[in-house]
Order: sequence, then C-alpha cells, then structure tokens
Amino acid sequence: MCGIIGCIGEAAAQPFLIEGLGRLEYRGYDSAGVAIWNGKEIETRKSIGRVSRLAEALNESPLDGDTGISHTRWATHGAVTEENAHPHFDASGRLALVHNGVLENHKALRDGLLGRGHTFVSQTDTEVLAHLIGEAFDCAPVQDRDALVAAVRYALGQAMGTYGIGLLHADTGRFLIAARKGSPLIVGFGDGRQFLSSDVDAIADWVDEVIYLEDGDIAALDGDTYEVHRVSGGEATPPAPVKVEAPPTREGRGRYAHYMHKEIHEQPETLREVMKGRLDHEGGTAVFSGLQRTNEELREWHRIVLTGCGTTYHAALAGESLIEALARIPVECEYASEFRYRNVPLDSRTAVFAMSQSGETADTIAALRESKRKGAPTLGICNNVISTIARESEGGVGLRAGLEIGVAATKTFTSQVVALAMLGLLLGRIRDLPHCEGMDIIRGLESLPELVAQTLELDEEISRIAAKYISARNFLFMGRQANFSIALEGALKMKEISYIPASGYPSAELKHGVIALVNEETPSIFLAPQDGVYEKNLSNIEEVKARKGPVIAVGTEGDETLASLCDDVILLPQVPDFLAPVLNVIPLQLFAYHTAVALGCDVDKPKNLAKSVTVE
Ligand code: G6P
Repeated sequence: MCGIIGCIGEAAAQPFLIEGLGRLEYRGYDSAGVAIWNGKEIETRKSIGRVSRLAEALNESPLDGDTGISHTRWATHGAVTEENAHPHFDASGRLALVHNGVLENHKALRDGLLGRGHTFVSQTDTEVLAHLIGEAFDCAPVQDRDALVAAVRYALGQAMGTYGIGLLHADTGRFLIAARKGSPLIVGFGDGRQFLSSDVDAIADWVDEVIYLEDGDIAALDGDTYEVHRVSGGEATPPAPVKVEAPPTREGRGRYAHYMHKEIHEQPETLREVMKGRLDHEGGTAVFSGLQRTNEELREWHRIVLTGCGTTYHAALAGESLIEALARIPVECEYASEFRYRNVPLDSRTAVFAMSQSGETADTIAALRESKRKGAPTLGICNNVISTIARESEGGVGLRAGLEIGVAATKTFTSQVVALAMLGLLLGRIRDLPHCEGMDIIRGLESLPELVAQTLELDEEISRIAAKYISARNFLFMGRQANFSIALEGALKMKEISYIPASGYPSAELKHGVIALVNEETPSIFLAPQDGVYEKNLSNIEEVKARKGPVIAVGTEGDETLASLCDDVILLPQVPDFLAPVLNVIPLQLFAYHTAVALGCDVDKPKNLAKSVTVE
C-alpha cells in the first residue's frame, strides 16, 4: 500500500514532497520518510506516525535539494519502526527507493542477496529491491543514467508481485525513475517541475498535465524531459498526457471536532447531490448518462454482480435487495478480494459493478479486470471519478459526495445505497415496474434528505445513550432483510473506530449460535422499524431480554411497544420500507462515533487502517 510523491525541478523539493505526502495519507499513516539529493549525496529523514511528525522533524532540520522522493507507509512487511520506514537504500547508501505494493518473491531475492554478502537494516521487501537495483547498477561498466534504467529493468524483471516505485541515485544526480506494475503511479508536468505521485489529486495544484503509467512502464525524468521504457525491453510510446482538472476542495472540519462527525452531518446534502438530475418525474424513472447504455442494452442484462470491500461491500448488500425487489434481476454481491480468485460465472449479459469510494482499492481493481477478461460489461460506482476504477470501467455512476476524509466511510455509504436504489428503479422501469410505483419510489427518494436531517437531530440523544455503554466489551448488531447489511455496517463502524469487538447478524440467526454470547454485559442493537418483519424482530428482542441482555433498538417514531421492551430506543421518522436502511445506518454511525470519542480514540485515523487499501 502506501503513498509516493517524487519531485524534480527548479525549486526546493521538500515543500512539495511533504505537502503532497499529506494528501496521500489516506493510503496509510504508519510512518513517513523523505530522501533528497543535495547536489552531492542523498539525505533522508524518517519518522513513525503521521506526515505531520515528519514535517516537524524537517522543520527542525530541513533537507536542501531540488530532486527527491517521499513516502507514507501502511505496513505490510515488517513492523512499524523507523528502520522499516521508506525510503530504503541499497548497499552503497547512494540509491534511495520508495515502494507501494508487495514483492511476493522477496524472501528468495533476499536469500540470494544475503548469499552475495548483502546485509539489511529492515525487514521490508522494498529494501531487497533497492539492493537488487543497486547491485546491478554497481556492476555496470559506467554508472550513468542509462545504466540506472538498465539496472531497474533487470531487477524488476526478477520481481514478482506488485509495485509502484520511485528512486534516485547520488551518482545520477538530478534524475528520477518511476516504474509500476499493479500499483498506480502518475507522472505530472507543471511549471518547471516534474512529479511522481500515487494519485492525481495529490499533485493537481502543481501540474497541468499527467500521464498514467501502464503496467510494465519505467519512466525516466530529468526535470525537463522524460522517456518511458518497458521492463520487458525497449522504449515505449509514452501514454498521451491528460489535462488535470481542479481537485475537490479540502474544506476544514468547521464546527465539528472530527471529519467523521462532519461527514455524517453532510448526508442530507450528499444525498441531494447523488440524486440531482437523475430522477425523471415524467418517466417515473432514473437516468444515468454515465452508464453509456441504451435501454435496449440495459434490458439485455440478465444478472448483476456487485463487488467491493469493507463498507462498500455492505452498501452492495443493501443494494442487492433493492435491485432485486425493483427490477427482478438476480443480483450477487461478492467481496472483491474473493471474486478475483473464485471462478464466478460471467458472460456478456452479466453486468459487473465495481464499487469503490476511492476507486483505488487493489482487490476491486483486480475484480474489475478479471470481469473484463471474461467478457462481462464492467461499470464503476465511485466517489473519486478520476480514479483507476472510473478510468478502467466502461461507464458508471459518480457519487458526488465530495472528499471523504474520515477513514471510516459514512456519507459515501448512504450515497452508494441511494445510487443502487436509483439503478434498481431504472432497471425496473424498463422491465415490469409500473409508472405509479416508479413515482412512489421517486417520492420516497426525494423525501430522504429531509428525513436524514431529522434523524441527525438525534445526535445528542445518541451520544447520551452511547455513554451508557462505553464499558461494553462486545456489541451485537441485528437486523433483517436489507437491514441485515446495516447491522453489518454498524458493527464494522464500531470495530473500526472504537476497537470494541462487534458483529452483525440477521436477527433470526440469533438462536443458531449468537445467543450464546448474550449476557448482562453484552448490548444488542436491533434494527426494528415498523416494517413487514417488525413482529419477528420483537420476538428476537424478547429472546435477548429473557436472557438479561441489554437491548438498544432503532425503531419508528411513536413506537411505544418497542420503547417499553428495550433499555434504550432511537426512534426515527417513518420512511418507506425499502429506504429504511439509508435512515437506519445514521444512528449507528453516530453511536460508533460517540463511543469512540468517549473512549479517547483517534476517530479520523484509526490505528492499523487506511482510507484506501491499495495492496491485495
Ligand atoms: C478500506 C477502508 C474502508 C473502505 C474499504 C473499501 O478498508 O478503511 O473504510 O470501506 O477500504 O474502500 P473503497 O474505497 O474501495 O470503497
């Protein structure tokens, strides 16, 4: 995983490297480091933790030079230590390398190097690659730029796995090399400077054009010109430069203590945005120009696969019920990480939707590519519409939720569910769904932002309820039908930011094992709106209460039965059954948030997590 920035040009590199790195922290924040060529040799600074700590170290002792690389790490090989932080050096100490990805054969390569007398200071796969390149370079008859490109080509020819790398060598001075396979890497061109970056947004303020390197490309930059070579040999025709659009603005936290809290409260607005211009009253349907499909083509689809990871996978599960109910098309949800290794039956009439907030999740990108290989139509549902998934899919739906900075996804989850509801509406209306039912759905969707706003008014009440349960060491979340996906999501939010074990189940599964966990210390959170399975949920709540388990229920306004049965209730406005999941997730987001705050956890940057997981 990890984020990479490289800079070469007319001005000092350090400010660009650090500011750009800060924008890549969503890719990991275990440690950060920088290496800059000072005209003679390469100097480095590293620190554990956030980029801000590295910036503090550099304020005290700045690095001078116009050519450098930097890195923010999410640990894969080796603990979170300064030794394991990037950049890593070769045996000569004159070559510095940053790496995003995983070298699968690093052990064999390391053993070979150890046998040839190399010693290592870290446990990383990256240091192995640095030594391999350095060794090949030192063996060249002349240590010049061509020799460095050749050494990179030789070493990458032996590397198995994924990489996006940036490197420089003191002997070749004002010269940067970048290469990629499997991990994204972009070269940008600005005013007298060239950049490397893991994504466009991190450098968008400083560049006019970028090129997206292809797998197997090696780019060589000297600050003015560039060449692209292939790992397999020879020069490549460089990909055409693409103009860069202004990145979404990064607003502050405003009156909120955390981005997550702010983003939860943005949901009325983000839901309006995802629906804007996409609801067609006259046709009683939804419109998605981004799908780039005629109705005839959409009618060809006889099956849909939704694939994604984490919170996005839970949105897919909620969407499965919605699309099947509205369009009567079979939908399967697949964890992207499983999809790529399973032999999922696919054909030209099975549409695969690669769903990803960031559009950069490695497993989801791989699932998309696997689907393409098998001839399925591939569509993306992304928040970041200049991402790899958005670029590589045939069409798709942009979520328009704005930047989501809190690592725990909130506003993008509800936007994903609503996007899938609209997709279900569109696919239903070109099949069996009558106009009047389409209009009911549109009215329901349009009422959502206001109902979400009313739900958010319960923030303080939810904070008080959460405070009662902060000593709990385990939470159970239960719901039926589409609300089962919300139970899973509520449990994930709790685990992610408060580190309290939590699990989600279909309510009826309680008696098949989970009930063994029920006791006075284990709160159960039930999603029990007044829908078609309300009475069934009440029975399950009774079963928990009979075993002295505390119950917090999320129900419907005015439900006194629920209030009298449960220890605490959070009652939400009435909403059509099919949209209840969108409303029900809000109190669970707030519950997890207030629990984490009360426990003093780092809500926006929870330990061990990253906003976007760019390794397998
Ligand atoms: C990481 C994040 C999760 C997110 C998941 C999928 O695990 O920590 O919050 O749900 O990736 O991310 P994506 O960008 O593909 O939706």
